[in-house]
Order: sequence, then C-alpha cells, then structure tokens
Amino acid sequence: MDLKLLLCMFLVYQHNFKVLHWKAKGHAFNYMHDLANTYYLKLETDADTIAEICISLGIDPVSYMECAETISSSEMKFLVLSANTDYEIETFLSNSILMFNNMIESMETLITPDSPIGVKVELENMIAYYYKQANFILKRPSED
Ligand SMILES: [Fe+2]
Repeated sequence: MDLKLLLCMFLVYQHNFKVLHWKAKGHAFNYMHDLANTYYLKLETDADTIAEICISLGIDPVSYMECAETISSSEMKFLVLSANTDYEIETFLSNSILMFNNMIESMETLITPDSPIGVKVELENMIAYYYKQANFILKRPSED
C-alpha cells in the first residue's frame, strides 16, 4: 500500500457510494439514499486531502485513467460495485462496512514512526471517522 494506491481506493470507493446512492432500493431507501450521499461527500473531501498530502511529499496524484489502470493491475482486491444491480439494506450495510474496513487497514499500514506528523494526524482523523461508521453507526441502521 502506498499513498497513490490509497488515493485510487478513495476515488473508486467514492464512486461506489454514488452507486449505492442511486441504486438503493426497498423499505430503507431514504436512509440509504441520504447516508450514501453523506459518505460520497466525505470521501470526496478525504480524497482531496490525500491528493494534497501526495503533492506535499512530491508524489503526483492520479488521472481518472491512471486510477482505473492502477486498481485493475493492483494485487490488492478493490471492491467495485456494479451499477446494474439494486442494493437493499443488507447489501448496502455489508458493502459499506467492507469498504470502510479496507480503507482503515490501508491507512493503518501507511502510518509509521517515520510519517510526517501532519500526515499522521490527517490519516488518524480519517480512521477515527470510518471506524465509528463501520463499528457503530452502520450497526444500528434506521428502519425507515
Ligand atoms: Fe442525488
């Protein structure tokens, strides 16, 4: 895992949340539609932060094409959600939790004793947010 791969992960997962926003279906539609959009916006902000960390360390960010090529050639398994299917509450929750756990694990591997303090703090704040979503908020879904 490196920062460029992490950036690709956030860009792909950001899009996955847009797919969940669009293709949510069933009794919990409003809950999923709104929450997926909230996560989409959060990942957009965090991807921007990661891209700016990359630049501060002399690493170029990625184009859309580079991002697609990077994830398809990576040994790491990325979750790419199909937009040709509907998502009911169970698959919405399991896919969201899986993405957040992938992101948390990836960020944890990038925090080392040598990490610049500013980078460490940004990643730790993101981990705290996604950890809370995966282990608390998404474990108590609305019945609406
Ligand atoms: Fe929308």
